[in-house]
Amino acid sequence: MLLVGENRRNASGAFWSRDELHEPHSVADKAVRVRRMFDRIARQYDRLNHWLSLGQDRRWRRRSAAMAQLQAGERVLDVCCGTGDLAAAAVENQPALRMVAGIDFSPRMLELARQKQKHFTPSSRIEMQWICGDAEKLPFDTASFDAAFCGFGLRNLQHPAIGIREIARVVRPGGRFVALEFAWPEDRLGRWTSGAYLRCMAPLLGRCLSSGNGDAYAYLPASVAKFNGCILIEQWMREAGLTPLDATRFMFGMVVAMLGRKNDGET
Ligand SMILES: C[S@@+](CC[C@H](N)C(=O)[O-])C[C@H]1O[C@@H](n2cnc3c(N)ncnc32)[C@H](O)[C@@H]1O
Repeated sequence: MLLVGENRRNASGAFWSRDELHEPHSVADKAVRVRRMFDRIARQYDRLNHWLSLGQDRRWRRRSAAMAQLQAGERVLDVCCGTGDLAAAAVENQPALRMVAGIDFSPRMLELARQKQKHFTPSSRIEMQWICGDAEKLPFDTASFDAAFCGFGLRNLQHPAIGIREIARVVRPGGRFVALEFAWPEDRLGRWTSGAYLRCMAPLLGRCLSSGNGDAYAYLPASVAKFNGCILIEQWMREAGLTPLDATRFMFGMVVAMLGRKNDGET
């Protein structure tokens, strides 16, 4: 496919061709496209998220934060932090954290996270860091965090298994990791609802609400269809030295929050 211009859109103006959307996770330069896509939709991202989740996304992040059982004085990492809503949920859940770092490779998503910070840490003394960097090569020392989160980020990585390995590396033994991600529902009704929603509703809402970037929301169903979050994340957690402990499903099982604990004795 011909790629033209800074935004890597093709001749028809789309980020992804129809062929690529059949196997979006195998596209050789997926990371470059994902970064540019999120840079492009950053301003609409929160609003879209809210509509696409039928107003449930904040609740999912609050539940994910609660699953980590955050303690006062802990250091928390939000990988693929985007506009910072999962970091915000962690602060809301435990206002006495020592430090919260958010990392994302989209400068525009991070810019919004920085702007929003004053709303969720009005009087807190938490040290907040927003870092532009790669989730597959985290710029942190081994065992430097007590807990880590990744909300709707793993599916977007070029190599999610490497991302989880990196997260496991920077979390201390006994520390927790919560992944919030799309999943395939287990029952037939859930699968039918999820299929109908992702094939019809999500692209339609995306087109209506994303000011000309609707094709970015064609990527959403395509990437979810090829990513069985629950099974894959559990497997990658185990391979990375994390023990899966708990999973909570939302929205007919289409979304899952999975908690893992880093095994003692792992570096
Ligand atoms: C769907 S958004 C999720 C944002 C946020 N965590 C949330 O819950 O709304 C996915 C984010 O992952 C980021 N991302 C994808 N691949 C990345 C990578 N390799 N390194 C850092 N960030 C990445 C994108 O820039 C984007 O902001």
